[in-house]
Amino acid sequence: MLSFMKTGEIIREFVAKDGRKVILRTLKWEDLDDLLDLINSLVEEGANILKTEKVSKEEEIEWLSSVLARMKRGEIFCVAAEVEGHLVANSEVMKGTGYSRHVGFIGIAIKKGFRGIGIGTEMMKALEEHARKIGLKVLTLAVFANNQHAINLYKKMGFVETGRVPKRFFKDGTYIDEIIMTKMLE
Ligand SMILES: CC(C)(COP(=O)(O)OP(=O)(O)OC[C@H]1O[C@@H](n2cnc3c(N)ncnc32)[C@H](O)[C@@H]1OP(=O)(O)O)[C@@H](O)C(=O)NCCC(=O)NCCS
Repeated sequence: MLSFMKTGEIIREFVAKDGRKVILRTLKWEDLDDLLDLINSLVEEGANILKTEKVSKEEEIEWLSSVLARMKRGEIFCVAAEVEGHLVANSEVMKGTGYSRHVGFIGIAIKKGFRGIGIGTEMMKALEEHARKIGLKVLTLAVFANNQHAINLYKKMGFVETGRVPKRFFKDGTYIDEIIMTKMLE
């Protein structure tokens, strides 16, 4: 079963640990500038993500168009967090294809200044709820082995380490392993 959610649809609201009101919702076209700002701020701070180069507005337009189209087809589900009228975080669960149709691949990123206040936890819960709703059986993700904050979040959500690729990344003169983490949904 595919569960289709409209763009910009509110999932839920909550108050973060610092008292700010957070809206969790699906992505919408109007998020373009905030998404561009989010990805480029992550690249600039050297966050532990796959992207190393800043993105142009044209590239972001292409990316968001493709995501919104895939969202309509039920291939991807994005949960964004909005604070004071701006998107400050984005996350997704991407449905596998072929023999991996039962697997969801997760990604999540929160802007500096909005971390450690419970937004990641609530976004992961929303992704998992959706994954269960569409019948996925396995959730998996990949994380830099030195990203303790992210690993803490995933462990708290019930993910366990199921694989490790040694020296998968070379960053700032150091090799870093990639850890694969998995959560079984049944
Ligand atoms: C990793 C990330 C998604 C975590 O989201 P978050 O909103 O900051 O996480 P939360 O506030 O919900 O905290 C989740 C858990 O992480 C741990 N944590 C919180 N702050 C932490 C910190 N400063 N350092 C280490 N662990 C921390 C705690 O165990 C916390 O659970 P608790 O509050 O119940 O004790 C977010 O920091 C982020 O986007 N970082 C940059 C991009 C990135 O690394 N993405 C992941 C790529 S795999």
